[in-house]
Amino acid sequence: MAKDILPSLAQADAQVPKKKLGGYEFYREVLGSPKYVVAPMVDQSELAWRKFSRRYGAQLIYSPMINAKMFVDSTNKTYRNANFDLINGEEGDPTIDRPLVVQFCANDPEQLLASAKVVEAHCDAVDLNLGCPQDIAKRGRYGSFLQDEWELIYKLINTLHVNLSIPVTAKFRVFPTIEKTVEYAKMLERAGAQILTCHGRLREQRGQNTGVADWDKIRAVKEAVSVPVFANGNILYQADIDACLKATGCDGVMSAEGQLYNPALFAGIGHPIDSPDYDSDEQILIRHPRHADLALEYLDVVMELKTTTSVSGIKGHLFKIMRPGLIRETDLREKLGRVKIDPKKVKECLGAYRVVCEEMKERMDRDAKAAEGVPLKDLITVEPITGIKVMPHWLAQPYFRPSPEQKKAYALANAPLEVAEGESSVAVPVPVSPQKPKRPLDDCEPGEDAKRVRLEQVAV
Ligand SMILES: Cc1cc2nc3c(=O)[nH]c(=O)nc-3n(C[C@H](O)[C@H](O)[C@H](O)COP(=O)(O)O)c2cc1C
Repeated sequence: MAKDILPSLAQADAQVPKKKLGGYEFYREVLGSPKYVVAPMVDQSELAWRKFSRRYGAQLIYSPMINAKMFVDSTNKTYRNANFDLINGEEGDPTIDRPLVVQFCANDPEQLLASAKVVEAHCDAVDLNLGCPQDIAKRGRYGSFLQDEWELIYKLINTLHVNLSIPVTAKFRVFPTIEKTVEYAKMLERAGAQILTCHGRLREQRGQNTGVADWDKIRAVKEAVSVPVFANGNILYQADIDACLKATGCDGVMSAEGQLYNPALFAGIGHPIDSPDYDSDEQILIRHPRHADLALEYLDVVMELKTTTSVSGIKGHLFKIMRPGLIRETDLREKLGRVKIDPKKVKECLGAYRVVCEEMKERMDRDAKAAEGVPLKDLITVEPITGIKVMPHWLAQPYFRPSPEQKKAYALANAPLEVAEGESSVAVPVPVSPQKPKRPLDDCEPGEDAKRVRLEQVAV
C-alpha cells in the first residue's frame, strides 16, 4: 500500500479540528456509552422506527444506508429528501432522534464528504458501509465490494476524519481468516474510524448462505483495536446479547433482523437471566409484548411525525412484527398484502394497515385469553431443526431460518430409508423438508423496498 496514502494515525490526527472527540471519549460523552444498537437498514431504520425503537431500549440507532453519489446530485432532490428529510427538521432532532449515526455508501471521497457535510449538523457521526453484499453493491462498487481496495477505503474514511466536525465510523464484514480481518480492522482504525462495527459474516454469507456469524473473529478485532467495537450477527433473543458481549468483549451489540421482528428486543434488559422471575409472565411480556399492539403503536408513531414514512417500508415492518400471527391468519396476511402501495395516498394506506392490525389484535387477544391460566413459559416450544425456542404466536419474537447445514442434518436424521425404484437395494435418504426456503432480508439495496415487501408477502 502506498505510504503517502496511508499516513500514520498521529499524522492524520494532527489535522483534525481540536474539539472533536474520538474513540471512547466520543462513545461515552457524546453517545452515552450505548450497548444496545439498532443497525442501519434500508427502508427499515427510518425515523419512525428509530423513535419507536428508543421507547423499547435502543440506545443508538443508525440511519438506513444512503448512496452518497445520489445524495450529492443536486438535480435529484427527491432522493435527498426521501433519505434524510431536512425540511421538517425531525430527523436528527436532539429531542427525538439522537443519538443517531447516518450511514453512507460511497466510492468517491469527495462525494462522500459532500454528502456527510449535508447531515453533519443533524447527527452524531457518519458511518461508511463496507458490508453490503448485494449485487447492486457489486454493480455500484460499494459496500463489501470495496473490501479489497484498502487504499480507497483509507481515503474515504480519512477524508471524513480530517474534514468533518463529527467522527466517522465504519461497519464491515469479516474475511476468511482472523489475521486478515484484524489487519483490515486496524487499517480502518488508522484511517480515522472512531467506532467499528464488525459483522461476523463473510461477504459470501448472504441469501440462503447467510449462516451464523463468527464471534471469534469479532473478538479478535475487539482485542486488536483501541476504539469501541460493536458486534453484529446472531442476536435473536435477549439472552444472546449477554452471551455475545461475553464472547466478544465488545462494547455493544448491533441487531438488525432480530430487532425488526421483535422491536422490544432490548426492552427491560439488565434483568438478571438467572433471577427466579426471569420467565414470569410479567418479564416475558416485557421482552415479548403482543405483536399486534406493537404494530398499532408503530403506526401511531408514523402518524405523529410530520416527516413522511415510506408506505412500502411501513408494510415491511408490519409483515415482520406480526409474522407469527400472519402465518396462521392467512386472510389477514392476504389483506395486508393487497393494500396497494401508493406513495401519493399515504393516509389511505395507513388506514388500511390499521384495519389489518386491529383485526389481528382482536384475534391475538382472543387466543391469549383462551390460554389464560397457563404460564407463558409453559407455552414455549422448540423449533425442531434449529433447537431455537418459539414463543406463543401472539407475542413478538425473532424469525430465524435454519442454515443449509442444519436443514441437511435434520433431513438426514429424520429421513425414512427408501429403495429407489429399478435400483438395487441401496438405501437413499429422502429429505423431509420440501418447503421452499425464504430469502433472508440482509439486503441493503436502495429502491428495492417494494421487492422486499413482495418477498415478505409470499414468504410469511
Ligand atoms: C432489511 C435490512 C436492511 C439492511 N440494510 C442495511 C444497510 O442499509 N446498511 C448496512 O450496513 N447493513 C444493512 N443491513 C445489514 C444489517 O445491518 C446487519 O449487518 C445484518 O442484517 C446482520 O445483522 P443481524 O444478524 O442482526 O440481522 C440490512 C439488513 C436488513 C435485514
